[in-house]
Amino acid sequence: MDLHFHAAGPVTELTTPLLVVPVLKGEGDVPVTPGNAGRELAGSDDRWQGDVRWQAGSSVVTYGTGGPRRVAFLGTGKSMAELDREAIRRFAGAAVRLAETLRCPDLALLVPQGGGVDGAAAHQAAAEGLVLGAWRFRELKTGVGEEEPPAEVTRATLVPVGGESSSEREAMERGRILAEAENLARMLQSRPGNLATPSDLADVAEAWAAEYGLEAEILGPDRIREERMGALLAVAQGSAQEPRLIILRHRGGSEGDPPLVLVGKGLTFDAGGISLKPPKGMEDMKFDMSGGAAVLAAMTAVARLDVPRNVVGVVPSSENLLGAAAVKPGDVVTTRSGITVEIINTDAEGRLILCDALDYVTGMEPEAVVDCATLTGAVVIGLGHQAMAVLGTDQALVDELQEVGEATGERCWPLPLWPEYRNQLRSETADVKNVGGRPAGTITAAMFLRQFVKEMSWAHLDIAGTAYGDGGEIPYRRVGGYGVPTRLLAEWVLRRSG
Ligand code: BES
Ligand code: MN
Ligand code: ZN
Repeated sequence: MDLHFHAAGPVTELTTPLLVVPVLKGEGDVPVTPGNAGRELAGSDDRWQGDVRWQAGSSVVTYGTGGPRRVAFLGTGKSMAELDREAIRRFAGAAVRLAETLRCPDLALLVPQGGGVDGAAAHQAAAEGLVLGAWRFRELKTGVGEEEPPAEVTRATLVPVGGESSSEREAMERGRILAEAENLARMLQSRPGNLATPSDLADVAEAWAAEYGLEAEILGPDRIREERMGALLAVAQGSAQEPRLIILRHRGGSEGDPPLVLVGKGLTFDAGGISLKPPKGMEDMKFDMSGGAAVLAAMTAVARLDVPRNVVGVVPSSENLLGAAAVKPGDVVTTRSGITVEIINTDAEGRLILCDALDYVTGMEPEAVVDCATLTGAVVIGLGHQAMAVLGTDQALVDELQEVGEATGERCWPLPLWPEYRNQLRSETADVKNVGGRPAGTITAAMFLRQFVKEMSWAHLDIAGTAYGDGGEIPYRRVGGYGVPTRLLAEWVLRRSG
């Protein structure tokens, strides 16, 4: 999407096919608009207020004569005091949906602010909502059987309520870059397993590295064997597709500065292996590389934003199938760290590919490591689709991610990692089992990973319930991959650079 900034001039004279005006809840629930724009645009009397509502998503479209050809009053669901970034993101997303309904490819958005949201934060959030809202996955559509192509919004202008400000313009750019990165993650997520294999992911990572100025290093089976990553190899051995360990580096800090490291599960299709999953909904397991997609995408934002830190993204990638050579329940493998694992359930493969990646990362002596993975069905039972679980060795890091989650609308909720949970992973035969039974499935999965991070400051995000879905109530999303937690990861890196 082409994003512009309206530098100066009254809204009544703005030439645009569609101006979207936010409606807020005023005193006694009366709908109000920022800077009295409603009155200016709709005439001097207050009759417009009788028809317009502040409730989220409610809209009234009026047709003007000069300036804006249409003026849409769109509810934000909030009063000025209640306004937050996520409300603005959703409002901007709803504006895109409204423009789509009108089949209008170009809109101008009056940016609401107030409450705890200053002009810069408001413009960033508005840009994010627009860019995220307009995105769709059309790569595999030829148009056959379609009456007409879906409406697309290709251009938007942010209109500040006050005068022009350079920090608002910068914030709009930042929002655009973060949202474009998230859309890249969505694109990878949307690609089916046959078109997004581990080697395809590696190729994409190399292409992005060239485009955005990152260093790419790709480890194939030989290098992975040299590294003695027995757990990653065990998962990959049931598939005709070779595994990859994908590494993207951004050198924004000084030589030798401890990096921030992002690790993402890049399981390009999870059939469960010999512990086969049931057929219903198995097609969704193309989304099992969502963590990896978010890490690669977040690295593009880190590069484009020129973050003054060393940042590394690491994505172990494999399929989990059940070929003749597949790993079997009861098999014991030796991980890169030397810890032996009895594979009770081949469907608990995410922790296997991640444990070797986490062990690899210890050698980088990072300042902190955040991994994200569609790791357990249990997190969907525990938190539903509203939050990812966050667990880790460093409470300050966990708190930080929770805060960045609030700001980005990619919320995290903590679960404990008490040592007692480790008992569920005891094995008769090897050092440890790869599953801990039904109770606390998200925690025992994280506890499994915990063994490989040594003394590192580490947090794990279980995104199985939040990485993709039916679009939910959130207007800047659609059915499919959400790109979560790309913006969370990138904003966390930005916060560590400030
Ligand atoms: N990729 C799945 C987890 C998942 C579930 C992702 C639902 C998205 C939606 C993971 O590899 C898996 O199969 N986990 C098992 C672990 C179990 C065997 C201990 C699970 O959660 O059922
Ligand atoms: Mn699995
Ligand atoms: Zn999986």
